[in-house]
Amino acid sequence: MTKPIVIIGGGLAGLFCALKLAPRAVTVLAAAPIGVGASSTWAQAGIAAAVGPGDTIDSHVNDTIIAGDGIVDEKIIRTMATEASDRIHDLLEYGVPFDRDLEGKLAVSREAAHSESRIVRVKGDMAGRAIMQALVKTVEQTPSIRVLEGYVVEQLMLEDGRVVGVAARSEAGASEELHYVEGSNVVMATGGVGHLYEVTTNPTEARGGGIGMAARAGARLADMEFVQFHPTAINVGKDPAPLATEALRGHGATLHNSAGERFMVPLHKDAELAPRDVVARGIFAEVKAGRGAFLDCRTAVHDFAAEFPTVYSYCKDYGIDPVTDMIPVIPAAHYFMGGIWTDINGRSSIPGFWACGECTSTGAHGANRLASNSLLEAVVFSARIADALKTEISAEPSNGWSKGSIETDEHTINADHPNMTRLRKVMSKHLGVLRDEAGMSEALRTILELEEQSHSQRFTNVVTTAKLIAVSALNRLESRGGHARTDYPDEDPAWKRRTLLTLAQAEATIPDLINEHAEN
Ligand code: SIN
Repeated sequence: MTKPIVIIGGGLAGLFCALKLAPRAVTVLAAAPIGVGASSTWAQAGIAAAVGPGDTIDSHVNDTIIAGDGIVDEKIIRTMATEASDRIHDLLEYGVPFDRDLEGKLAVSREAAHSESRIVRVKGDMAGRAIMQALVKTVEQTPSIRVLEGYVVEQLMLEDGRVVGVAARSEAGASEELHYVEGSNVVMATGGVGHLYEVTTNPTEARGGGIGMAARAGARLADMEFVQFHPTAINVGKDPAPLATEALRGHGATLHNSAGERFMVPLHKDAELAPRDVVARGIFAEVKAGRGAFLDCRTAVHDFAAEFPTVYSYCKDYGIDPVTDMIPVIPAAHYFMGGIWTDINGRSSIPGFWACGECTSTGAHGANRLASNSLLEAVVFSARIADALKTEISAEPSNGWSKGSIETDEHTINADHPNMTRLRKVMSKHLGVLRDEAGMSEALRTILELEEQSHSQRFTNVVTTAKLIAVSALNRLESRGGHARTDYPDEDPAWKRRTLLTLAQAEATIPDLINEHAEN
């Protein structure tokens, strides 16, 4: 009997892959109900695709390369930009109601660092929600897809160097049982790492557990030092922080400090439309200096409630009227350029193990992702995985469900668990928008302590990802894109390359990293 393909994750990449694999048997394991707890559902802007008048694939490729600050893999981004229009059409077939212009053509809007209007949207800022609603509905109507909700995968099962399944436990931690799900192949689509930080736009589930699990199974990782901070999370002390989409700046909204200065103007020729890392650092400096940062949409947006309903309702929840008030903003951990290394077809370095979406590092984003390229990457590479797997797997359905016994004594690690709180604090303080050797070494020491104390496989996976971020950041002796060091403020041509490493290779550098700093 053919085993199913196991997909870990119920966000955009996981569900799109499952649909593209139909009618092959697929089991989707998701910690929360599918579509819930996925960063993709929260995406406001949309999907970048060169489908607007006058736009070209070359222009999309060039903008991505510039934003990615020297280390974008050109072959990967060209593939992604070229396949964008086909994937948008797939989404239309799944029922996504993308906005249209008066002639019925797809409407496109502008975002920072794009030289053309190329963001395909839904009702202004509701793309993520609308896309996920359509996909969830289609998945529910697809008999080859079995969805198991409420399970957190804790371990990849290996046999003779090949991934042959996963071990998962109930999300509530109420069940003592570890369930083994066998798969002909396993596809990871577990999302990013935002919740490793105190201020983030990501849902609680996005704390790097999948990436850590893959690392512990021996998978090769890439670019783990590159975390993207979105410049304009709404600064109202909420966790996760609500987002004020970059499309607002695309519409002409401007940034000011409490003294009324438009502080981005002297910092970059494109001011508010500079690459995301530049704007994030500009805002961070104002917040640190106690002047605060505020997004002024008052003249740029004509009908706020209609054009940006999500942001409008977030603001209203906190007593801010964006029609008459400026919106207080703060940078927030938003997207991870690092992750599980994959090739152009989503294949990882371990046989039988594939990955797509934010948990991967394909090389498409380099050191700093261009806005609205993330949903695009998720659909392009999950479809490529499905294409590659279709040549290997028959369509026979199967059930590889069995039960095992518990191996650890503490299953659940909530966002407010004291160790998680400590981890988030140290990551924000020392591995955030600005970094230096002393701070990062201190962070690494805390991370190692937390790892040693962990009795939970789930937390160990999370802390492993944090460790890889710290080690990669300490090892890169320059500033580039999302990795900004005050002790190495400039780009160094010698570092114009991606970081590729395994957990074992990263761990081998730790004694030197820690000792070097102790000696200084
Ligand atoms: C936003 O709406 O500003 C976020 C878009 C993105 O992260 O690509």
